[in-house]
Amino acid sequence: MSAEIIDGKDFAGGLRARVAEAAAEFEGVTGRKAGLAVVLVGDDPASQVYVRSKGKATIEAGMASFEHRLPADTSQADLIRLVGALNTDPAVDGILVQLPLPDHLDEHAVVETIDPSKDVDGLTPISTGRLALGLPGLVPCTPLGSLMLLKDRLGSLSGLDAVVIGRSILVGKPMAQLLLSESCTVTIAHSRTRDLPAVVRRADIVVAAVGRPEMIKGDWIKRGATVIDVGINRLPPETEGAKGRLVGDVDFASASKVADAITPVPGGVGPMTIACLLRNTMVAAQRRAN
Ligand code: GUN
Repeated sequence: MSAEIIDGKDFAGGLRARVAEAAAEFEGVTGRKAGLAVVLVGDDPASQVYVRSKGKATIEAGMASFEHRLPADTSQADLIRLVGALNTDPAVDGILVQLPLPDHLDEHAVVETIDPSKDVDGLTPISTGRLALGLPGLVPCTPLGSLMLLKDRLGSLSGLDAVVIGRSILVGKPMAQLLLSESCTVTIAHSRTRDLPAVVRRADIVVAAVGRPEMIKGDWIKRGATVIDVGINRLPPETEGAKGRLVGDVDFASASKVADAITPVPGGVGPMTIACLLRNTMVAAQRRAN
C-alpha cells in the first residue's frame, strides 16, 4: 500500500487566496495595505532564500513588504533599536526577525522586544504563554500550517497518539502545545530520547522536526499513521545520484509504504509556513485596526 501524498502546496494556495481577499478588503476599509516587516541579519544563504520568498509572497497577497537586511556584525543594541522603530511604525502590522541570528546576538533578548500584537512568528513570551494557556493569540507559522494539514486530513484529532520529534521553540514545542489543545496524547521526543524507533511506532501522528536528513525510517512508522515532515535538508553535492537534492527528516521512500498519508519535501509543510505567515499578518492587521 502506498500513502496518500498530502499536497501542502495546493492547500497553501487556497489559504493564500483567502488571505489576498482579506488583504484587499482591509485596504478598501482602512485605505492602507497590511504590512509585514522582515529583518535579516547576516548573509546565511538559506535565510536569504526564505526571506526573499516571504517578501515575494507578501507582495503577491496584496500586502506591503518591508525588508531590513543588516550586516552580520550588527550590534544587539542596533537590532533592538530597529525592532523598537518597527513596533511604533503604524504601517507595520507584523514583525519577523529571521532566525537563527549570528552567534554574538541573543535571540531571546531580541525577540522579547517585539510588540506581541505584531508578533506574527508567535515567539514572544506573551505569545508562547498564551499558547500554553490555550488562549487565542498568534501561533508560530510552521506548527500552525502542520496542524491545518492534519485537521484537513483527519478531522478530529481527539484521543490520537502524537509524537513530535524535536523540541525547538519554532516548531517542536508549539506543535506539541497545539496537538495537546486538540486533545491528542502528546510525546515530545528529542536527541536524548531512548529507543526513538519504539516511541515513534506508537504514534498515530508523527511530526518530524529534527533537521537530520531522512533520519526517520519506514519501519519506525505504525501502519496507517499520518506523517508530517517539517525537515528541509539539502543533501551534500557529493551525494551519489542525489546532488544537492532537498529531502525531509523522514525517509520518504520507506515511510510512504506504511503511512496512511505523508507530506512530501518539497511541497508539503514548506508552502504552509509562508501561507500561515501571511495569514498571521492579516490577523494582526485586523486586530490592530479594530
Ligand atoms: N527560520 C526558519 N524558519 C523560521 C521562522 O518560521 N521564523 C523565523 N523567525 N525564523 C525562521
